[in-house]
Amino acid sequence: MATVFVPKEAAGETRVAATPETARRMIAEGNSLSVESGAGTGACFPDEAYTAAGATVVTDGPDAWGSADLVLKVNPPTGDEASRLKEGAVLASFLYPLANLGAIRALAARKAVGFALDRVPRISRAQSMDALSSQASIAGYKAVLLAADHLPRVMPLMMTAAGTLTPARIVVLGAGVAGLQAIATAKRLGAVVEVSDVRAAAKEQVESLGARFIQVEGAEDLSGEGGYAKEASAEFLQRQQVEVRKRIVAADAVITTALVPGRKAPRLVTSDMVRDMRPGSVIVDMAVEQGGNCEDSEDGQIVTKHGVTIIGLRNLPGRVPVHASEVYSRNLLEVVRLLFPKGVRTIDLADEITAGAVVTLEGAIRAPDVAAAIAKG
Ligand code: NAI
Repeated sequence: MATVFVPKEAAGETRVAATPETARRMIAEGNSLSVESGAGTGACFPDEAYTAAGATVVTDGPDAWGSADLVLKVNPPTGDEASRLKEGAVLASFLYPLANLGAIRALAARKAVGFALDRVPRISRAQSMDALSSQASIAGYKAVLLAADHLPRVMPLMMTAAGTLTPARIVVLGAGVAGLQAIATAKRLGAVVEVSDVRAAAKEQVESLGARFIQVEGAEDLSGEGGYAKEASAEFLQRQQVEVRKRIVAADAVITTALVPGRKAPRLVTSDMVRDMRPGSVIVDMAVEQGGNCEDSEDGQIVTKHGVTIIGLRNLPGRVPVHASEVYSRNLLEVVRLLFPKGVRTIDLADEITAGAVVTLEGAIRAPDVAAAIAKG
């Protein structure tokens, strides 16, 4: 039997790593679960709902950290939190280890198992643990609603007694998990949607959602490992910009989601394009945490430049906390089943998922890129 602890996230995070539903399931599978008081409040899950599910609500967070076999979180732990772990305990959360070396050092010092949800390999068997996808879907949906909310016009075609209102034109850059959900949401709202991506497979997916794919002359397929994109050449980006620019200057909203693993987000919308956009149009830059797809977006801010509203808010899934927590906590439930089958701690490095996602184990830093970054200081 594993002793599981779900702490309250830091201020500003609304999501929680276990819902009453996943709490009930973990307990039914033989684990014991404690939840820090208030952990679910931001996601509308009161303490009483956890108690009703059979969990213990605790007020002394630091103590609970030290007695758990497994701690489940949304965001990476602080170094201080990680140092409270019991020796050899497991911590599963988004870790983004290269950006959180302090936490990784602390996890290694506690000989803890650091399981990074952001490093779960994208293989079919791991789909139920794919928290990047579960959160990206919610974020893509919310991005379109933010755009709709900031637009000075309606999204769908509307026939009124006072005349017809034309549908909004939306350009989506990047048709991965977030982009596809943004397309589907914009279509449901009645917008006309055009999309650019660098992976050949994206075209069919975009068209199956009823959107138009922006063809770039002489485009080669930049599909990389695990379905991710490879970095485009400067020459390709230039040709893409010419095509994208034509659509953007006629658009009412642009949703940008383009990412390349391990690189800064590609710059797809320049200041010059923003200047030529229609007044009142909206850009939602979902890549803002990786440097942004739009030259004019500001991290964490909503700004107006050249009459265009540019939304660079972080943590869009946290703006839909109930469903973002529901899917994230189900991803984690699968991780618990992987690492604690029948309640017995099993760190099997022969398993591709475990091998990919476990960053620290028995005091060592397993991921070579992270070990190299730590060695550099
Ligand atoms: P991501 O968040 O890394 O990138 C978002 C999108 O940006 C990708 O579609 C990428 O091709 C695109 N992009 C990169 N550079 C661009 C540029 N210059 N212009 C326009 N678009 C650009 O990727 P995400 O969304 O996490 O996953 C991408 C793909 O991975 C999915 O569509 C799917 O095919 C695959 N995947 C496979 C899974 C599995 O097999 N279990 C699970 C999840 C995703």
